[in-house]
Amino acid sequence: IPEKITNICCIGAGYVGGPTMSVIAQKCLGVKVTVVDLNQGRIDAWNNEDLDKLPIFEPGLKEVVEVARGRNLFFTTDVDKAIDEAEMIFISVNTPTKTYGVGKGMAADLKYVELCARQIAKVSTSDKIVVEKSTLPVRTAEAIKTILKAEGNKVKFQILSNPEFLAEGTAITDLHYADRVLIGGDQDEEGQKAIQRLVDVYSHWVPKEKILTTNVWSSELSKLTANAFLAQRVSSINAISALCEETEADVDEIAKAIGADSRIGSKFLKSSVGFGGSCFQKDILNLVYIARSYGLDEVAEYWEQVIMLNDYQKRRFAEKIVKTLFNTVSGKKIAILGWAFKKDTNDTRESASIYVADYLLNEQAELYIYDPKVKEEQIYADLDCLNTRSEEENRELVHVIKDPYQAMDDSHAVAILTEWDEFKRYDWDKVYKSMKKPAFLFDGRNIIESNALVSIGFSTYNLGKAK
Ligand code: UDX
Ligand code: UDX
Ligand code: ADP
Repeated sequence: IPEKITNICCIGAGYVGGPTMSVIAQKCLGVKVTVVDLNQGRIDAWNNEDLDKLPIFEPGLKEVVEVARGRNLFFTTDVDKAIDEAEMIFISVNTPTKTYGVGKGMAADLKYVELCARQIAKVSTSDKIVVEKSTLPVRTAEAIKTILKAEGNKVKFQILSNPEFLAEGTAITDLHYADRVLIGGDQDEEGQKAIQRLVDVYSHWVPKEKILTTNVWSSELSKLTANAFLAQRVSSINAISALCEETEADVDEIAKAIGADSRIGSKFLKSSVGFGGSCFQKDILNLVYIARSYGLDEVAEYWEQVIMLNDYQKRRFAEKIVKTLFNTVSGKKIAILGWAFKKDTNDTRESASIYVADYLLNEQAELYIYDPKVKEEQIYADLDCLNTRSEEENRELVHVIKDPYQAMDDSHAVAILTEWDEFKRYDWDKVYKSMKKPAFLFDGRNIIESNALVSIGFSTYNLGKAK
């Protein structure tokens, strides 16, 4: 085990690797941090002089990159060199849900992680601490270890699990002021030493009592469990939203009332058109798959229900639009505000917007989509990926518009699908005047005061409010 960490390599320059390494470099002046990726375009974007062109949008990120880049933070595609120079290597590559073979649609696809492990084994000429940062199924460390040892390499490897808990849109604050940092490692002396090296890195800015150390399995399973619990809260409040719409109850009032109970807590109780993001669904599917593989069917079904409820919520919202527009949206212009899976990010993975849009397109609606941060080609790629219709049809029916007022102009309905702050500040009077009447507004995030819209003349639908 290296006595001191002076050189860190991170494989994967994505939403997790990029911000995390930027902050490590910002806070650990004596450590050289090199982030590598196979994707040349992505690396070029990280190196772009114009900080507004970084490949991911995160509040506060460009300020951190600005101070650290070129000082002790580097982005490159020279993977082998960076691996060999480093004493500590983070694996932060994507682990999507498998789209083929055994575990299709459920298990995590570990091929990128495995490739990394093989690469590390191949090029390393000195001892390494390998840190899993990507969310991985329990017991992945074991697999990585086997691969590292099997390559017949003489150098020693220690494997740590250090799951990332940052949320997109608040990544930099989450990294600066983490609720906790979790590090799992082997319980023997060497394992404990490796853990200590990573503790030393985080100790540059994270208070000691917030750094938790466990065995590898607890660490890996904690990550899946945390995301499953968070997603479950959203599905729970969304389940109640459907019930509220049938009664005189109001979901926001309920969230406030139950959130005041310190055992429940007030966060993560915002009813929505459905959770998205690269983690929640993937991690729950993973949990379900693992439970099932151990014959724990009741456990698997319990967690599966969280996803089923989320699918129901997205479908329910889309159905509501069609039903309200007199059971047909064929040929109608519908404006969609927001494509990202939450505000303050340009990430669209698993965004509810994709599924709501797909539903409306199946009903032959014409969509005019506006999002302040998502690029046009991303929106088309997300829809094409579903394979519901041809790429030509998607381009015929979907228009990506840069100006929100233009997107809503002359539309039959507006659907708010992401909670971007700017939507609250629009001149809704002006929007109303430009729309077809009756002017329908479907607020999938409950962000705009409904009474104000109604007094302008809108017919509004809000999640979890009496009809
Ligand atoms: C999540 C976890 O929060 C984070 O700890 C983990 O590291 C990665 O996965 P992220 O997916 O980036 O982070 O964002 P998050 O804020 O958790 O939101 C996930 C989804 O849930 C979004 O679509 C969001 O809009 C939705 N959500 C969240 C709600 O609908 N209601 C809420 O009250 C909270
Ligand atoms: C509950 C609610 O807490 C209370 O607000 C409501 O007014 C009445 O119902 P009670 O049933 O008296 O109160 O006790 P509570 O502390 O909630 O425990 C309920 C059960 O859950 C007990 O069997 C308890 O042992 C169990 N429990 C609670 C656990 O198994 N694990 C926990 O972490 C908490
Ligand atoms: P996350 O949200 O987990 O960070 P991303 O998809 O944003 O996921 O980022 C993962 C990155 O890992 C991608 O940029 C991808 O090109 C990169 N990557 C995947 N496999 C490898 C590999 N073997 N070597 C280097 N980079 C890789």
